[in-house]
Amino acid sequence: MRRIPAVLAVLFCALLLCCCSGNVPLKASYTSSSYTLSLEGDKVVSDTDWVVNLNKPKDRDFVILNITDIQLSTTEYILNFDHIRDMVTSLVEKTKPDLITYLGDMSYGHWCSDLGICSFIDSLGIPWAPVFGNHDMEDSGMAPDTLAQVFRSFRNCVFRDGPNLLAVDPSYNVEDKGNYVVNIVDVKDDAFKVVKSLVFFNSGTEGATDLQMQWYQDCMDSVCSYGGSDPVSSAVFMHIPIYEYRTAILAACKSRYVTPAESYDPSSWNPGYEGSFGVWYEGIGYKSGKPGFADLLKAKGNDLLVCGHNHTNSFCVNYEGMTYLYALKTGPGCYYEEGMEGGTEIRVSASGSFDVTHWYFYDGQGCFDRPQDFI
Ligand SMILES: [Fe+2]
Repeated sequence: MRRIPAVLAVLFCALLLCCCSGNVPLKASYTSSSYTLSLEGDKVVSDTDWVVNLNKPKDRDFVILNITDIQLSTTEYILNFDHIRDMVTSLVEKTKPDLITYLGDMSYGHWCSDLGICSFIDSLGIPWAPVFGNHDMEDSGMAPDTLAQVFRSFRNCVFRDGPNLLAVDPSYNVEDKGNYVVNIVDVKDDAFKVVKSLVFFNSGTEGATDLQMQWYQDCMDSVCSYGGSDPVSSAVFMHIPIYEYRTAILAACKSRYVTPAESYDPSSWNPGYEGSFGVWYEGIGYKSGKPGFADLLKAKGNDLLVCGHNHTNSFCVNYEGMTYLYALKTGPGCYYEEGMEGGTEIRVSASGSFDVTHWYFYDGQGCFDRPQDFI
């Protein structure tokens, strides 16, 4: 009998050790959520922390500038930061954005890149909305929790953690924070409507999960009654593409051997996809992504998907009612294709429709909406 307390003590110590070592497996636990919006003065406010609302300027489109995959190692940061700063400054001057979206992979191995890039973007004085990339989740420079705190500490950053434990990365046993919503709202007199709902996913290192899709559907069910007489459409931003990017480009692509400049020629695409542009130079990195997410998104009014991750893909294809957009990579970090550095402009109209433009940057020359022959 004397052995029982001893065994219990050993078990207790083992449990304590396990907890202290941080090896307790985290489990995603989302069930459901909803939010409401109301007007306070000329601002729309939400009853939920992870929903942000930005006013659409009167009499003109809402302009989003997307940058992605800066992904600088320590050495690259030292050598290339001036180049990145000049590029983003030029993109901002050209597009005059109301919101900067950052699609992940801030750094590639050291926190100085994370901090330097965040500080620079915030210094532009424009609201900015980042998501995590796979390298941000891999402790590549800074632990994900710390990077989330860093995002939240910047004055102009609208990043939110999102619902607790909505997603957990299976490879690193860390919570995928940063699932949140930014609504573009039109405020007139004493009323408002949501023009478009921008939904930001942390796609971790493996891609979006079923629970995140369930959360997306709850978000759209929450916002659908705020469109006035129009349905509310959404645009989804995530680092890792979903499976259907492959289906879309296989339908549209006539040849993978076109240059970025040639991709603007309608004859470079299969019939029915002549409005496409951009290139498909590497595999679609959806990792564990499975078919079916596109239908879920479309069913709730999503008409635009924006991803990064694959640095030498830049295609923009409308396939079965949804635009599949690879954002143009920002800078030369890690790997890149010469002549394919810059950012992507998304102009959102009062009806929620949108136009996409890649802006190509060349040192000493500035930004152009078509590839140039400077290189
Ligand atoms: Fe990536």
